[in-house]
Amino acid sequence: MAEQQNKKRIFSGIQPSGDIHLGNWLGAIKNWVALQDAYICVYCVVDYHAITIPSQAAELHTRIHNACLDLLACGIDPEKSKLVVQSHVPQHTELAWILACFTSLGDLERMTQFKDKAAQHAQYVSAGLFTYPILQAADIAIYRADAIPVGEDQLQHLELAREIVRRFNNRVGRDILPEAKDIVTKGARVMGLDGASKMSKSKNNYIGITEEKDAIWAKLAPAKTDERRKRKSDPGNPEDCTLWSYHTLFTESEADRDWVRAGCVSAGIGCVECKRCLLENIDRALSPIRERRREYAADPARVEAIIREAAAWCRDEAEITMRDVRAALGVRA
Ligand code: TYM
Repeated sequence: MAEQQNKKRIFSGIQPSGDIHLGNWLGAIKNWVALQDAYICVYCVVDYHAITIPSQAAELHTRIHNACLDLLACGIDPEKSKLVVQSHVPQHTELAWILACFTSLGDLERMTQFKDKAAQHAQYVSAGLFTYPILQAADIAIYRADAIPVGEDQLQHLELAREIVRRFNNRVGRDILPEAKDIVTKGARVMGLDGASKMSKSKNNYIGITEEKDAIWAKLAPAKTDERRKRKSDPGNPEDCTLWSYHTLFTESEADRDWVRAGCVSAGIGCVECKRCLLENIDRALSPIRERRREYAADPARVEAIIREAAAWCRDEAEITMRDVRAALGVRA
Protein backbone atom coordinates (compact mmCIF):
# COMPACT_ATOMS: atom_id res chain seq x y z
CA MET A 1 0.00 0.00 0.00
CA ALA A 2 2.81 2.42 0.97
CA GLU A 3 4.63 1.47 -2.21
CA GLN A 4 1.45 2.19 -4.18
CA GLN A 5 1.20 5.66 -2.60
CA ASN A 6 4.79 6.53 -3.53
CA LYS A 7 4.26 5.69 -7.16
CA LYS A 8 3.93 8.49 -9.68
CA ARG A 9 0.91 8.74 -11.91
CA ILE A 10 0.50 8.16 -15.60
CA PHE A 11 -2.48 9.19 -17.70
CA SER A 12 -3.06 8.69 -21.39
CA GLY A 13 -6.00 8.47 -23.74
CA ILE A 14 -7.15 7.19 -27.07
CA GLN A 15 -10.14 8.17 -29.18
CA PRO A 16 -12.71 5.48 -30.01
CA SER A 17 -12.87 6.76 -33.56
CA GLY A 18 -12.18 3.48 -35.36
CA ASP A 19 -9.91 0.47 -35.22
CA ILE A 20 -6.83 0.77 -33.04
CA HIS A 21 -3.92 0.50 -35.46
CA LEU A 22 -0.21 -0.20 -35.58
CA GLY A 23 0.57 3.52 -35.13
CA ASN A 24 -1.40 3.68 -31.86
CA TRP A 25 0.19 0.45 -30.69
CA LEU A 26 3.80 1.25 -31.48
CA GLY A 27 3.54 4.98 -30.75
CA ALA A 28 1.71 4.72 -27.45
CA ILE A 29 0.01 1.55 -26.20
CA LYS A 30 3.14 -0.64 -26.05
CA ASN A 31 4.60 2.00 -23.78
CA TRP A 32 1.41 2.12 -21.70
CA VAL A 33 1.78 -1.60 -21.10
CA ALA A 34 5.47 -1.29 -20.21
CA LEU A 35 4.81 1.45 -17.63
CA GLN A 36 2.15 -0.43 -15.69
CA ASP A 37 4.46 -1.78 -12.99
CA ALA A 38 6.34 1.40 -12.21
CA TYR A 39 3.39 3.83 -12.11
CA ILE A 40 -0.23 4.17 -11.09
CA CYS A 41 -1.76 4.25 -14.56
CA VAL A 42 -5.08 5.54 -15.84
CA TYR A 43 -5.77 4.71 -19.47
CA CYS A 44 -8.81 6.32 -20.94
CA VAL A 45 -11.09 5.81 -23.92
CA VAL A 46 -11.88 9.46 -24.62
CA ASP A 47 -15.41 9.22 -26.02
CA TYR A 48 -16.27 12.91 -25.51
CA HIS A 49 -13.31 13.79 -27.72
CA ALA A 50 -14.74 11.52 -30.42
CA ILE A 51 -17.96 13.56 -30.70
CA THR A 52 -16.05 16.69 -31.74
CA ILE A 53 -16.66 15.44 -35.27
CA PRO A 54 -20.05 14.05 -36.38
CA SER A 55 -20.79 10.56 -35.00
CA GLN A 56 -23.66 8.06 -34.85
CA ALA A 57 -24.83 6.81 -31.44
CA ALA A 58 -24.93 3.08 -32.22
CA GLU A 59 -21.60 3.14 -33.97
CA LEU A 60 -19.89 5.14 -31.24
CA HIS A 61 -21.26 2.79 -28.60
CA THR A 62 -19.71 -0.18 -30.41
CA ARG A 63 -16.43 1.64 -30.93
CA ILE A 64 -16.10 2.49 -27.24
CA HIS A 65 -16.61 -1.17 -26.37
CA ASN A 66 -14.17 -2.27 -29.07
CA ALA A 67 -11.52 0.19 -27.92
CA CYS A 68 -11.77 -1.22 -24.39
CA LEU A 69 -11.43 -4.76 -25.74
CA ASP A 70 -8.46 -3.76 -27.90
CA LEU A 71 -6.64 -2.12 -25.01
CA LEU A 72 -7.15 -5.15 -22.79
CA ALA A 73 -6.01 -7.33 -25.70
CA CYS A 74 -2.83 -5.25 -26.06
CA GLY A 75 -1.96 -6.02 -22.45
CA ILE A 76 -3.50 -3.27 -20.34
CA ASP A 77 -3.83 -5.28 -17.16
CA PRO A 78 -6.90 -4.42 -15.03
CA GLU A 79 -5.08 -5.75 -11.96
CA LYS A 80 -2.48 -3.02 -12.40
CA SER A 81 -4.09 -0.15 -14.31
CA LYS A 82 -7.40 1.64 -14.52
CA LEU A 83 -9.10 1.32 -17.88
CA VAL A 84 -11.73 4.02 -17.88
CA VAL A 85 -14.21 5.56 -20.30
CA GLN A 86 -14.07 9.36 -20.17
CA SER A 87 -17.84 9.97 -20.07
CA HIS A 88 -18.12 7.73 -16.98
CA VAL A 89 -16.27 10.40 -14.99
CA PRO A 90 -18.21 13.69 -15.34
CA GLN A 91 -15.48 15.67 -13.59
CA HIS A 92 -13.45 15.61 -16.85
CA THR A 93 -15.95 17.92 -18.53
CA GLU A 94 -16.52 20.00 -15.41
CA LEU A 95 -12.80 20.76 -15.19
CA ALA A 96 -12.66 21.35 -18.95
CA TRP A 97 -15.16 24.22 -18.61
CA ILE A 98 -13.09 25.77 -15.86
CA LEU A 99 -9.83 25.43 -17.78
CA ALA A 100 -11.51 26.95 -20.84
CA CYS A 101 -11.67 30.15 -18.80
CA PHE A 102 -7.88 30.01 -18.48
CA THR A 103 -7.15 29.40 -22.16
CA SER A 104 -6.83 32.05 -24.85
CA LEU A 105 -8.32 31.82 -28.33
CA GLY A 106 -4.85 32.49 -29.72
CA ASP A 107 -3.49 29.37 -28.01
CA LEU A 108 -6.20 27.23 -29.56
CA GLU A 109 -5.81 28.77 -33.00
CA ARG A 110 -2.17 27.68 -33.12
CA MET A 111 -2.99 23.96 -32.78
CA THR A 112 -1.98 22.11 -35.95
CA GLN A 113 -4.32 19.19 -35.20
CA PHE A 114 -7.24 21.63 -35.14
CA LYS A 115 -6.19 23.11 -38.47
CA ASP A 116 -5.88 19.63 -40.04
CA LYS A 117 -9.19 18.36 -38.64
CA ALA A 118 -11.03 21.60 -39.45
CA ALA A 119 -9.84 21.25 -43.06
CA GLN A 120 -11.02 17.61 -43.15
CA HIS A 121 -14.49 18.59 -41.82
CA ALA A 122 -14.74 22.00 -43.45
CA GLN A 123 -18.53 21.84 -43.94
CA TYR A 124 -19.08 22.08 -40.16
CA VAL A 125 -16.36 22.92 -37.65
CA SER A 126 -17.72 22.57 -34.11
CA ALA A 127 -16.64 24.65 -31.13
CA GLY A 128 -15.89 21.28 -29.50
CA LEU A 129 -13.26 20.57 -32.13
CA PHE A 130 -11.70 23.95 -31.39
CA THR A 131 -11.67 23.47 -27.61
CA TYR A 132 -10.60 19.81 -27.84
CA PRO A 133 -7.14 20.50 -26.29
CA ILE A 134 -8.80 21.98 -23.19
CA LEU A 135 -10.65 18.73 -22.52
CA GLN A 136 -7.35 16.94 -23.05
CA ALA A 137 -5.70 19.22 -20.46
CA ALA A 138 -8.55 18.43 -18.06
CA ASP A 139 -8.18 14.66 -18.63
CA ILE A 140 -4.61 14.89 -17.42
CA ALA A 141 -5.05 17.39 -14.60
CA ILE A 142 -8.11 15.71 -13.09
CA TYR A 143 -5.93 12.75 -11.97
CA ARG A 144 -2.98 14.99 -11.03
CA ALA A 145 -0.91 12.96 -13.49
CA ASP A 146 2.87 13.31 -13.46
CA ALA A 147 3.58 11.93 -16.92
CA ILE A 148 1.82 11.23 -20.22
CA PRO A 149 3.02 8.53 -22.63
CA VAL A 150 2.04 9.53 -26.18
CA GLY A 151 3.15 9.46 -29.79
CA GLU A 152 4.89 12.50 -31.25
CA ASP A 153 1.71 13.98 -32.74
CA GLN A 154 0.38 14.85 -29.26
CA LEU A 155 3.29 17.01 -28.13
CA GLN A 156 1.75 20.34 -29.06
CA HIS A 157 -1.41 19.52 -27.09
CA LEU A 158 0.63 18.51 -24.06
CA GLU A 159 2.66 21.70 -24.18
CA LEU A 160 -0.59 23.67 -24.20
CA ALA A 161 -1.97 21.54 -21.34
CA ARG A 162 1.02 22.56 -19.24
CA GLU A 163 0.53 26.20 -20.15
CA ILE A 164 -3.13 26.07 -19.17
CA VAL A 165 -2.49 24.59 -15.72
CA ARG A 166 0.38 27.04 -15.17
CA ARG A 167 -2.00 29.91 -15.87
CA PHE A 168 -4.66 28.40 -13.61
CA ASN A 169 -2.17 27.94 -10.74
CA ASN A 170 -0.82 31.48 -11.18
CA ARG A 171 -4.26 33.06 -11.15
CA VAL A 172 -5.50 31.18 -8.08
CA GLY A 173 -2.13 31.69 -6.40
CA ARG A 174 -1.51 28.04 -5.50
CA ASP A 175 0.00 25.03 -7.26
CA ILE A 176 -3.17 22.97 -7.32
CA LEU A 177 -2.73 21.23 -10.66
CA PRO A 178 0.61 19.63 -11.55
CA GLU A 179 2.37 20.14 -14.90
CA ALA A 180 2.68 16.70 -16.44
CA LYS A 181 5.71 15.84 -18.51
CA ASP A 182 5.45 13.86 -21.71
CA ILE A 183 6.98 10.46 -22.33
CA VAL A 184 7.36 10.13 -26.08
CA THR A 185 8.12 6.89 -27.84
CA LYS A 186 11.30 7.75 -29.75
CA GLY A 187 11.07 7.49 -33.50
CA ALA A 188 7.66 5.87 -33.41
CA ARG A 189 5.78 8.11 -35.79
CA VAL A 190 4.38 5.27 -37.81
CA MET A 191 3.68 6.17 -41.42
CA GLY A 192 0.50 5.06 -43.18
CA LEU A 193 0.31 2.46 -45.93
CA ASP A 194 -0.08 5.30 -48.46
CA GLY A 195 3.44 6.45 -47.52
CA ALA A 196 2.12 10.03 -47.62
CA SER A 197 1.04 10.75 -44.04
CA LYS A 198 1.14 9.25 -40.56
CA MET A 199 -0.94 6.13 -40.01
CA SER A 200 -4.36 7.28 -38.88
CA LYS A 201 -7.93 6.08 -38.54
CA SER A 202 -9.32 9.04 -40.45
CA LYS A 203 -7.02 8.57 -43.45
CA ASN A 204 -7.86 4.87 -43.84
CA ASN A 205 -4.18 4.05 -44.37
CA TYR A 206 -3.79 1.72 -41.44
CA ILE A 207 -3.42 -1.89 -40.36
CA GLY A 208 -5.65 -2.63 -37.37
CA ILE A 209 -4.07 -4.48 -34.46
CA THR A 210 -6.79 -7.13 -34.48
CA GLU A 211 -6.85 -7.75 -38.22
CA GLU A 212 -6.44 -11.33 -39.38
CA LYS A 213 -3.58 -12.39 -41.63
CA ASP A 214 -5.71 -12.36 -44.82
CA ALA A 215 -6.94 -8.86 -44.12
CA ILE A 216 -3.40 -7.63 -43.45
CA TRP A 217 -2.25 -9.13 -46.73
CA ALA A 218 -5.13 -7.44 -48.57
CA LYS A 219 -3.67 -4.12 -47.37
CA LEU A 220 0.04 -4.92 -47.74
CA ALA A 221 -0.20 -6.40 -51.24
CA PRO A 222 -1.26 -3.17 -53.00
CA ALA A 223 0.75 -0.88 -50.67
CA LYS A 224 3.13 1.59 -52.29
CA THR A 225 6.85 0.82 -52.17
CA ASP A 226 9.91 2.72 -53.43
CA GLU A 227 8.74 4.25 -56.72
CA ARG A 228 12.01 3.28 -58.42
CA ARG A 229 10.96 -0.38 -58.28
CA LYS A 230 8.62 -0.40 -61.27
CA ARG A 231 9.73 -3.92 -62.20
CA LYS A 232 11.24 -6.66 -60.08
CA SER A 233 14.58 -6.10 -61.86
CA ASP A 234 14.74 -2.42 -60.76
CA PRO A 235 16.84 -1.95 -57.61
CA GLY A 236 15.34 0.17 -54.84
CA ASN A 237 16.31 2.07 -51.71
CA PRO A 238 14.76 0.81 -48.46
CA GLU A 239 15.02 4.29 -46.93
CA ASP A 240 12.43 5.46 -49.47
CA CYS A 241 9.98 2.67 -48.73
CA THR A 242 7.33 2.77 -45.99
CA LEU A 243 7.28 -1.01 -45.80
CA TRP A 244 10.96 -1.02 -44.87
CA SER A 245 10.08 1.24 -41.92
CA TYR A 246 7.63 -1.49 -40.86
CA HIS A 247 10.40 -4.10 -41.19
CA THR A 248 12.51 -2.08 -38.76
CA LEU A 249 9.62 -2.26 -36.30
CA PHE A 250 8.44 -5.83 -36.83
CA THR A 251 11.23 -7.93 -38.33
CA GLU A 252 13.21 -8.88 -35.29
CA SER A 253 15.64 -11.27 -37.01
CA GLU A 254 18.70 -9.38 -38.23
CA ALA A 255 19.22 -12.04 -40.90
CA ASP A 256 15.72 -11.41 -42.27
CA ARG A 257 16.26 -7.66 -42.26
CA ASP A 258 19.63 -8.05 -44.04
CA TRP A 259 17.98 -10.33 -46.60
CA VAL A 260 15.27 -7.78 -47.34
CA ARG A 261 17.65 -4.81 -47.47
CA ALA A 262 20.24 -6.55 -49.66
CA GLY A 263 17.53 -8.03 -51.89
CA CYS A 264 15.93 -4.61 -52.38
CA VAL A 265 19.11 -2.68 -53.27
CA SER A 266 20.34 -5.44 -55.62
CA ALA A 267 16.90 -6.28 -57.07
CA GLY A 268 17.59 -9.81 -55.82
CA ILE A 269 14.06 -10.03 -54.43
CA GLY A 270 10.85 -8.35 -55.55
CA CYS A 271 8.48 -6.27 -53.46
CA VAL A 272 6.10 -9.22 -53.14
CA GLU A 273 8.77 -11.32 -51.38
CA CYS A 274 9.59 -8.37 -49.12
CA LYS A 275 5.91 -7.98 -48.28
CA ARG A 276 5.45 -11.71 -47.62
CA CYS A 277 8.29 -11.64 -45.10
CA LEU A 278 6.78 -8.55 -43.47
CA LEU A 279 3.35 -10.18 -43.36
CA GLU A 280 4.74 -13.14 -41.39
CA ASN A 281 6.42 -10.84 -38.87
CA ILE A 282 3.45 -8.51 -38.38
CA ASP A 283 1.16 -11.51 -38.04
CA ARG A 284 3.45 -13.10 -35.43
CA ALA A 285 3.46 -9.89 -33.37
CA LEU A 286 -0.33 -9.47 -33.54
CA SER A 287 -1.36 -13.06 -32.97
CA PRO A 288 -1.20 -12.94 -29.11
CA ILE A 289 -3.25 -9.72 -29.20
CA ARG A 290 -5.96 -11.35 -31.32
CA GLU A 291 -5.96 -14.34 -29.00
CA ARG A 292 -6.36 -12.24 -25.84
CA ARG A 293 -9.04 -10.18 -27.54
CA ARG A 294 -11.08 -13.31 -28.31
CA GLU A 295 -10.90 -14.27 -24.62
CA TYR A 296 -12.13 -10.88 -23.42
CA ALA A 297 -14.78 -10.64 -26.15
CA ALA A 298 -16.21 -13.96 -24.97
CA ASP A 299 -16.74 -12.53 -21.49
CA PRO A 300 -18.54 -9.16 -21.78
CA ALA A 301 -19.59 -9.20 -18.11
CA ARG A 302 -15.94 -9.27 -17.08
CA VAL A 303 -15.10 -6.35 -19.36
CA GLU A 304 -18.08 -4.42 -18.04
CA ALA A 305 -16.95 -5.04 -14.44
CA ILE A 306 -13.39 -3.86 -15.23
CA ILE A 307 -14.68 -0.61 -16.72
CA ARG A 308 -17.20 -0.01 -13.94
CA GLU A 309 -14.65 -0.60 -11.18
CA ALA A 310 -12.11 1.71 -12.82
CA ALA A 311 -14.76 4.44 -13.22
CA ALA A 312 -15.63 4.31 -9.50
CA TRP A 313 -11.95 4.72 -8.55
CA CYS A 314 -11.50 7.49 -11.10
CA ARG A 315 -14.57 9.43 -9.94
CA ASP A 316 -13.26 9.41 -6.36
CA GLU A 317 -9.83 10.61 -7.47
CA ALA A 318 -11.29 13.24 -9.77
CA GLU A 319 -13.53 14.54 -7.01
CA ILE A 320 -10.49 15.09 -4.76
CA THR A 321 -9.03 17.37 -7.45
CA MET A 322 -12.34 19.13 -8.08
CA ARG A 323 -12.83 19.98 -4.41
CA ASP A 324 -9.50 21.84 -4.42
CA VAL A 325 -10.25 23.48 -7.77
CA ARG A 326 -13.73 24.66 -6.75
CA ALA A 327 -12.44 25.97 -3.42
CA ALA A 328 -9.60 27.83 -5.14
CA LEU A 329 -12.13 29.52 -7.43
CA GLY A 330 -14.53 30.34 -4.62
CA VAL A 331 -17.43 28.26 -5.96
CA ARG A 332 -19.40 25.38 -4.35
CA ALA A 333 -17.15 25.02 -1.32
P1 TYM B 1 -5.32 9.28 -30.75
O1 TYM B 1 -6.57 8.55 -30.45
O2 TYM B 1 -5.21 9.96 -32.07
O3 TYM B 1 -4.07 8.33 -30.61
C1 TYM B 1 -3.79 7.58 -29.44
C2 TYM B 1 -2.28 7.49 -29.25
O4 TYM B 1 -1.66 6.91 -30.43
C3 TYM B 1 -0.59 7.74 -30.89
N1 TYM B 1 -0.56 7.66 -32.37
C4 TYM B 1 0.55 7.41 -33.08
N2 TYM B 1 1.82 7.20 -32.73
C5 TYM B 1 2.72 6.96 -33.72
N3 TYM B 1 2.41 6.91 -35.04
C6 TYM B 1 1.14 7.12 -35.45
N4 TYM B 1 0.85 7.05 -36.73
C7 TYM B 1 0.15 7.40 -34.46
N5 TYM B 1 -1.19 7.63 -34.50
C8 TYM B 1 -1.61 7.80 -33.22
C9 TYM B 1 -0.98 9.14 -30.42
O5 TYM B 1 0.16 9.96 -30.33
C10 TYM B 1 -1.62 8.87 -29.09
O6 TYM B 1 -0.65 8.81 -28.05
N6 TYM B 1 -5.82 13.63 -28.31
C11 TYM B 1 -5.46 12.23 -28.15
C12 TYM B 1 -6.29 11.50 -27.09
C13 TYM B 1 -6.27 12.13 -25.75
C14 TYM B 1 -5.16 12.17 -24.86
C15 TYM B 1 -5.64 12.84 -23.69
C16 TYM B 1 -3.84 11.73 -24.93
C17 TYM B 1 -7.31 12.73 -25.13
N7 TYM B 1 -6.94 13.15 -23.88
C18 TYM B 1 -4.79 13.08 -22.62
C19 TYM B 1 -3.02 11.98 -23.84
C20 TYM B 1 -3.48 12.64 -22.70
C21 TYM B 1 -5.67 11.52 -29.48
O7 TYM B 1 -6.43 11.95 -30.30
O8 TYM B 1 -5.01 10.33 -29.59
